[in-house]
Amino acid sequence: MKKIAIIGASGYTGGELLRILAGHPGMDVRVITSREHQGKPLGEVFPHLRGYNDLVFEAPDYPVIRGRVDAAFTALPHQASIQAVAELVTSDIPIVDLSADFRFTDADVYAAHYAVHSHPHLLAKSVYGLPEVYRDAIRASRIVGNPGCYPTGAIIGLYPLLSETAVDPAHIIIDAKSGVSGAGRGPSLSTLYTEISEGLHAYKVGSHRHAPEIEERLSDIARTRVGITFTPHLIPMNRGILSTIYTTASRTADPRKIRMIYSDYYEKEPFIRLLPDGVFPDTAWVRGSNFVDIGLFTDPDTRRIIVITAIDNLVKGAAGQAIQNMNLLLDFEETTGITAPPIFP
Ligand SMILES: NC(=O)c1ccc[n+]([C@@H]2O[C@H](COP(=O)([O-])OP(=O)(O)OC[C@H]3O[C@@H](n4cnc5c(N)ncnc54)[C@H](OP(=O)(O)O)[C@@H]3O)[C@@H](O)[C@H]2O)c1
Repeated sequence: MKKIAIIGASGYTGGELLRILAGHPGMDVRVITSREHQGKPLGEVFPHLRGYNDLVFEAPDYPVIRGRVDAAFTALPHQASIQAVAELVTSDIPIVDLSADFRFTDADVYAAHYAVHSHPHLLAKSVYGLPEVYRDAIRASRIVGNPGCYPTGAIIGLYPLLSETAVDPAHIIIDAKSGVSGAGRGPSLSTLYTEISEGLHAYKVGSHRHAPEIEERLSDIARTRVGITFTPHLIPMNRGILSTIYTTASRTADPRKIRMIYSDYYEKEPFIRLLPDGVFPDTAWVRGSNFVDIGLFTDPDTRRIIVITAIDNLVKGAAGQAIQNMNLLLDFEETTGITAPPIFP
């Protein structure tokens, strides 16, 4: 059994790590941290996890924690993660960070959209944690920057087309809708029930921080600069992201050939389900699971290819993918502990 710490365990992604790891046969959570809830038993902060173990929240004291565990998840706001990872990595344990702090290869891009990175040398040691694209590099690394929730749905949707140079990299539109848990557990006016229920709105149009992350990765995949138009929306549901992606084929657009590209890339991927012709994803079909569902529509006349993906933002978009990465880092079978089917209805 590997001893695990979850730093920032009282938030939504920390809670989801705890829920999923309760059923993992090789990872035993020994340390959970929260500044606000230190001293409280787990079940007081997450009543749905009452009775699973006798963990008590403690302060995020990294020199004390790092000698007690074999690996750590950091589920903190950006910037707080830099400090946590810098202190934990000194004992050479594998770390999966769920924030944006280790997702970028270029510290200047991080600085332009977040803040100056205080430990840029650690960016050179970290790997982007999307196993479907970077599996071998993840296995060989010690610090994994777990992808953002919107980027996961968008990049999985576009990887086969861009890798095969099948679409115009300058004209990609990603229209995405997220449930409210994507904003974290901290209270704020914009996520109050009365503010978001019975309405649907776009936010951070042209300025969302996930756009540069998506562009950096897609450019790496396409081996050329990729420009995207990304418009996120907040939708009154707890979990899920539906991304509708519009692209234009660079050559002819034969629906059978486009579908074949996706089957070639994804038929052996355990968490990707390519839906049949005419069937399109629903966030309700992936809720609580690590699946990405993909639907395809190709119009040969306009050369438009529409790719629709659905994920659970807290699972494949955060905690489930983090455990998938940790399985790779700790040499477990990649799917260990994350094969539970979706919850429906
Ligand atoms: N929610 C999603 O769907 C999602 C998806 C992908 C990635 N992410 C990313 O994952 C990270 C965690 O997200 P979340 O939604 O779980 O956030 P959250 O609900 O706000 O939880 C944040 C956690 O970090 C702790 N924390 C906050 N500031 C800290 C500090 N300075 N030092 C130590 N601990 C601190 C909090 O506890 P205390 O304040 O009590 O210490 C809490 O346990 C974020 O970077 C987020 O962008 C979130």
